Amino acid sequence: MRNIVYQVYPKSFQDTNGDGIGDLRGVIEKLDYIASLHADTIWLCPIFASPMVDNGYDISDYKAIAPEFGTMADLEELIAKAKTRGIGILLDLVLNHTSDRHAWFQEALRDQASPYREYYIFRKGQNGAPPNNWRSNFGGSAWEQDTATGEYYLHTFAKEQPDLNWENPKLRKELCDMICWWLEKGVAGFRIDAISFIKKDLNFPSLPPDASDGLANPGSHWLVHEGIGTFLAQLCDEAFRPYGAYTVAEANGLCADQLPEFIGENGYFSAAFDFSYTDIDLAGGDWHTLHPINRKTLRDAIFASQEAVCRTGHGAVYLENHDQNRSPNKYLQPQEICRESITMLGVLYFFLQGTAFVYQGQELGACNFPWQRMEQFNDVSTHDQYARAVSAGFTPERAFAIVAHRSRDNARIPMAWTAETNGGFSACAPWLPADGVLPCPQQAQTAQVQDGENTSVLHFYREMGALRAGRYANLFYEGTFEPLTCESSALFAYRRALAEDALVVVCNFSAQAQETVLPAGDILLCNVPCTPHHSGGRIVLAPFQALVLAE
Ligand code: GLC
Ligand code: CA
Repeated sequence: MRNIVYQVYPKSFQDTNGDGIGDLRGVIEKLDYIASLHADTIWLCPIFASPMVDNGYDISDYKAIAPEFGTMADLEELIAKAKTRGIGILLDLVLNHTSDRHAWFQEALRDQASPYREYYIFRKGQNGAPPNNWRSNFGGSAWEQDTATGEYYLHTFAKEQPDLNWENPKLRKELCDMICWWLEKGVAGFRIDAISFIKKDLNFPSLPPDASDGLANPGSHWLVHEGIGTFLAQLCDEAFRPYGAYTVAEANGLCADQLPEFIGENGYFSAAFDFSYTDIDLAGGDWHTLHPINRKTLRDAIFASQEAVCRTGHGAVYLENHDQNRSPNKYLQPQEICRESITMLGVLYFFLQGTAFVYQGQELGACNFPWQRMEQFNDVSTHDQYARAVSAGFTPERAFAIVAHRSRDNARIPMAWTAETNGGFSACAPWLPADGVLPCPQQAQTAQVQDGENTSVLHFYREMGALRAGRYANLFYEGTFEPLTCESSALFAYRRALAEDALVVVCNFSAQAQETVLPAGDILLCNVPCTPHHSGGRIVLAPFQALVLAE
């Protein structure tokens, strides 16, 4: 949990029974592969029973495994087999909402007098319209009508994902008990989904519309809303802390001065993801407002995030996850994408303070998928963003190009294991397209090919993993972070130190050679064949060269 977390999107990882859907047995089969990256933890995206409207982020039973993923026995076997390799399992805890198929919600709909009605957020409408004009994160009104009573229920995400009513102490107790039940089973902790949204402004005010649909993004009326701390403290005191669970929160909307409360020594979580540098291309939130990433702004965002985290606790650093497009496409120009630039991006974030997260396929240098048609997309959010782009005036072609670039499905296409049909992912057609070749201009290769080549991206990720998990593990996890100023704005450089040890990380974020002065020291890692340099002498860094040296 301190070194490297490998994130698995089970649906796309490895299918073992030929139904085109990845499964838990597939994760068990690939444990040695994951261990080869020196991961000490696996974060499993949701594996609970679910109608899969949002691929498992719509849970219909918190204590059951989705049949397409396997059985409870499979999960127990995975936990046990991972443990023998020193790997802990983090489950994905979705606490802001359930599926509309969850028994609680079904009961709430069936009987207005049921105590389960109080598990959700029902309100009366206004003159035949929803209670207010809040927009859901997946588009349209955040309210859906319960036709039987005429009341509306709130959903931050899809209408099939009704929000839970955290004001209800019975609900909170029920969730805490469920979390303890999982911890008793031996999971190491949780990634906690959309947790910033659990506290709402109970006045539910209508807001000035921010688009032509008359709706408004509720912002702080539901994001890290005042009073959320009481709920989080209960989770922490009654569930996480007694078990020493590692917890990483998907807590968007946090500002730096809230970090001590959230991830400080007595904070609610072990760590929290920061979106400031991974969503840096999204100006207003919508994909069609996307703007090019400026290298200086990116560096400032990463460094500011680190400085804030280091004052407080530990980071959870990442470039990719199941909600992001692939990092080479996000951070590089198409003509810049190559083995060196991809591994440079790896070095850039991997040695920052805290725990490094790697998302499946990232270690192969996977790029965005060459989408051809809207119908190929499964992701609810991609379809919503397409509609938003069209209604903002973009042509269908342009709207398609925008979502093809940013779609969450870019990260969700099946793993490219081998050159066999469907990339060795499945014996039959997968739920999302897979062609067995990672669609980089330079044709990133399958895991099998990369395994045998010591210059591959996979091999380099293993080297990075070995360095991070080795004798400097503590330094990487909790050492100080100091940005280093370079003459060229193309160089990203920082210094990490703990007690007697100090390391320097330098990345040439450009396709041009860059000259700089490096401190004396042994080069521990370099993504191109590296020539030794003289102490304190000027050296020329090759395009996209990245290195770590011990001072
Ligand atoms: C989080 C998840 C995302 C999901 C959403 C709703 O942002 O990472 O995949 O769609 O929550 O649960
Ligand atoms: Ca399967």
